[in-house]
Amino acid sequence: MQRIYLDNAATTPLIPEVLEVMLPYLTEKFGNPSSIYSYGREAKMAIEEARKKVALHLNCKPGEIFFTSGGTESSNTAIHCALRDLGCKHIITSPIEHHATLHTVEYINKSQGVKLSYVKITENGHVDIDSLEEILKNATEKCLVTLMHANNEIGNMLDLEAVSNLCKKYNAILHSDTVQTVGHFKIDVQKTPVHFLNGAGHKFHGPKGTGILYINNEVNIQPYLMGGAQERNMRAGTENVAGIVGFAKALDLAMENIDADVKKGYELKNYMHEELLKAIPTLKFNGDVQEQSLYSVLNVAFDVNDNTEMLLMNLDMAGICVSGGSACSSGASGGSHVISHIYPTENRLPVRFSFSRHSTKQEVDIAVVKVKELMS
Ligand SMILES: Cc1ncc(COP(=O)(O)O)c(C=O)c1O
Repeated sequence: MQRIYLDNAATTPLIPEVLEVMLPYLTEKFGNPSSIYSYGREAKMAIEEARKKVALHLNCKPGEIFFTSGGTESSNTAIHCALRDLGCKHIITSPIEHHATLHTVEYINKSQGVKLSYVKITENGHVDIDSLEEILKNATEKCLVTLMHANNEIGNMLDLEAVSNLCKKYNAILHSDTVQTVGHFKIDVQKTPVHFLNGAGHKFHGPKGTGILYINNEVNIQPYLMGGAQERNMRAGTENVAGIVGFAKALDLAMENIDADVKKGYELKNYMHEELLKAIPTLKFNGDVQEQSLYSVLNVAFDVNDNTEMLLMNLDMAGICVSGGSACSSGASGGSHVISHIYPTENRLPVRFSFSRHSTKQEVDIAVVKVKELMS
């Protein structure tokens, strides 16, 4: 059976060019980068080359990039360190963040008594910027603002520039979870200053278990993971050399034709949106489909009825791979903290279709036909 993969916000397949540059670091160039002899030096050099490439894409200094195991570790590091080392005593976030953020701030709030405020969310799932300003204005202690650049379930994008300006105005530390936008959009930390941002290689055809944390040179934190002196004493543990090399190559490839890919991505998403509406005119969508939204995510809101009861399972049986929310709720109908927060009174079954730059109209066509068939 032909399988159609439309769950690229969960993860993406590694592309052959990326695997090719990784392989030598899993085989003959196996040295530990901390070793001083040639094996170690060549591994170390590969890491530093990768760091330079990544820095170029974010328009920052190589010394501001730290390699991690992924988005979760990077968010944990930024949030914990901002509280421990930067004097933040009040966390401001949104109720529709990824659990890597939400569970971290809830834990800190409960275990350390740090104040936690949630910004209001508008009726189509955007962060209410006025509500953020209101909280910042009334805060009596230094704030950490942690808000995702793009929501992984509904695709809504934050006005990061507005948030960055507000954080500057109120002297707050800003962390943005950019896991869904690094490798998908141009991000320039000179134009839009943040203190911390993160990325995960597997969201743009790089290897799983690889990530970055950008730490603005102006902030001075202590390591979160203690141990060896890797990553300039900031993140202990023997480096995932092949993964780091793969991360940088995947990012290079992702940014190679970024303008054309973004344009093509929006065309594909709009095409699917229109085709679904032609097939089922009463269909609703979760989040802001048209305006400030990721081109890679289209979240459909099916009214819960007999047909939708087994929809995800039936799509899977037809070879169509999509998810019900984030990767952790794949397969489960509902159960999404994002959807239930934005639409508290509606009984919606969210189905997220998400694309990569390799997704095609033909794949969309097959998926739409199947959805129509299963819903009629
Ligand atoms: C927005 C967002 N943040 C954080 C993460 C966690 O990233 P990782 O799985 O690399 O730890 C994900 C992954 O699903 C994500 O989509």
